[in-house]
Amino acid sequence: MKISLVKINANNWRKALGLSITPQQQALSQIASNVQSIAEAYVDTNLVPYLILPAECNDPEPKHAPVGFAVIEITDDGIGFLLRLMIDQRYQRQGFGKAAIDEIIRRLKLNPNVQRIASSHRSENKPMASLLNKAGFVPWDVSHWSVKPDGEVYVTLPD
Ligand SMILES: CC(C)(COP(=O)(O)OP(=O)(O)OC[C@H]1O[C@@H](n2cnc3c(N)ncnc32)[C@H](O)[C@@H]1OP(=O)(O)O)[C@@H](O)C(=O)NCCC(=O)NCCS
Repeated sequence: MKISLVKINANNWRKALGLSITPQQQALSQIASNVQSIAEAYVDTNLVPYLILPAECNDPEPKHAPVGFAVIEITDDGIGFLLRLMIDQRYQRQGFGKAAIDEIIRRLKLNPNVQRIASSHRSENKPMASLLNKAGFVPWDVSHWSVKPDGEVYVTLPD
């Protein structure tokens, strides 16, 4: 399964608006809308939003319709964090989510500013938990953090 990540830019961002998940998945994941994520990335330069394309593609204005959307955060203390991932409901269970995570991990490992790769999901979001587990993520103890959103499970790639 080959996918490409294409950075959201002024010319391609509208393609992210045609992607959707089911209302049940929305309730389960409590994921922000793609338009909200793009707005957040506009004001927070640590966030980088991507279209997920279903093929090899280096074109910043791809002809292919995207199959999904992701946001990566590079924190000031060197954590490469998969903040959001969604695969459009028409393209789920075809391996795109796993391929996207594998590509995100590959890119984060190449980033010299990243010392740890991590993500999180709502505790009830079993599909995302399973997907992250298959990609190699293990539970991450963040009990020392002063602020932890309730019901969020944190995972990391092992050191
Ligand atoms: C979670 C999500 C990204 C998975 O994407 P996908 O392209 O369908 O996933 P894949 O086809 O690559 O599946 C990879 C693995 O994920 C897990 N998985 C995916 N969908 C699942 C489901 N409905 N039920 C249980 N496990 C599931 C399985 O472990 C699967 O491996 P398998 O096919 O060998 O069983 C997708 O369902 C989605 O966009 N959900 C709504 C948004 C969301 O919850 N995002 C995460 C917020 S943190």
